[in-house]
Amino acid sequence: MSELCVQRPCGGQQVLEVQELVAGYVRGLPIVQGAKLRVDRGELVTIIGPNGAGKSTLMKAIAGLVPFESGQVLLRGGSVLGRAPDQIMQAGVGYVPQTGNVFATLTIHENLRIGGYCLGAELAQRLEQAYAMFPALASKRREKARTLSGGQRQMLAIARALMTEPSVLMLDEPSAGLAPMMVQEVFERLRQLTREGVSVLMVEQNAKGALQFSDRAYILVEGRNHLDGPARDLIDDPVVAAAFLGTSRRQVHP
Ligand SMILES: Nc1ncnc2c1ncn2[C@@H]1O[C@H](COP(=O)(O)OP(=O)(O)OP(=O)(O)O)[C@@H](O)[C@H]1O
Ligand SMILES: [Mg+2]
Repeated sequence: MSELCVQRPCGGQQVLEVQELVAGYVRGLPIVQGAKLRVDRGELVTIIGPNGAGKSTLMKAIAGLVPFESGQVLLRGGSVLGRAPDQIMQAGVGYVPQTGNVFATLTIHENLRIGGYCLGAELAQRLEQAYAMFPALASKRREKARTLSGGQRQMLAIARALMTEPSVLMLDEPSAGLAPMMVQEVFERLRQLTREGVSVLMVEQNAKGALQFSDRAYILVEGRNHLDGPARDLIDDPVVAAAFLGTSRRQVHP
């Protein structure tokens, strides 16, 4: 177990803070251009924005998967910027990418074991906690993940990311491709996690649905903060509603 597994700086309410982050795939051509955000303990925070705004890139940069040029990422007051993705995960950042978030040819049990690979003796207990939290997975633990429905796969991806008890759980478009009832269930499940003290940061294309479950939201346009505030205020803002909360996502140029 790395030192990061056990050393989580004890901060106040603020769990994750991103300061003026500049990051992208090619040096000198940043996609994320000074984005900033914060997530407090127990908050559900959503990032919305048009296609190509850099929402996924921002999340990947926080997870250490995309090179950064400048800025800062603080987890409970300590910098994780520049650390390897596995160290960032062990420090307390859980990340559920939009696609490829479960190992389809492995069993549910194997997927969860992989999620907890850095755990020692606690692994067995965490597995039981995961099954208690997601009973639908418990009854299928020996089945391959590819046999699961879209919603169950998303639950498995969330359960896998929760194995290390992250301080903040990041999800990229968790509702993508799910039936409306499952969308509701995923959002409710995330809300429940925040009541248990997990902080959640998600990117969502189902902006209106996500905002209804969120505490606060950030609107990202062309890699920069465009607007942010309490989710309720953004839903009620007619300009925001017209530009960002339609059923189809329009390209927005501020
Ligand atoms: N692996 C990559 N290599 C190079 N450029 C990339 C890569 N992934 C994304 N991009 C580019 O980065 C920009 C932002 O993409 P990103 O996926 O972060 O946007 P997004 O806001 O998540 O969009 P969407 O709503 O469509 O998911 C786009 O111009 C995209 O083409
Ligand atoms: Mg994306």
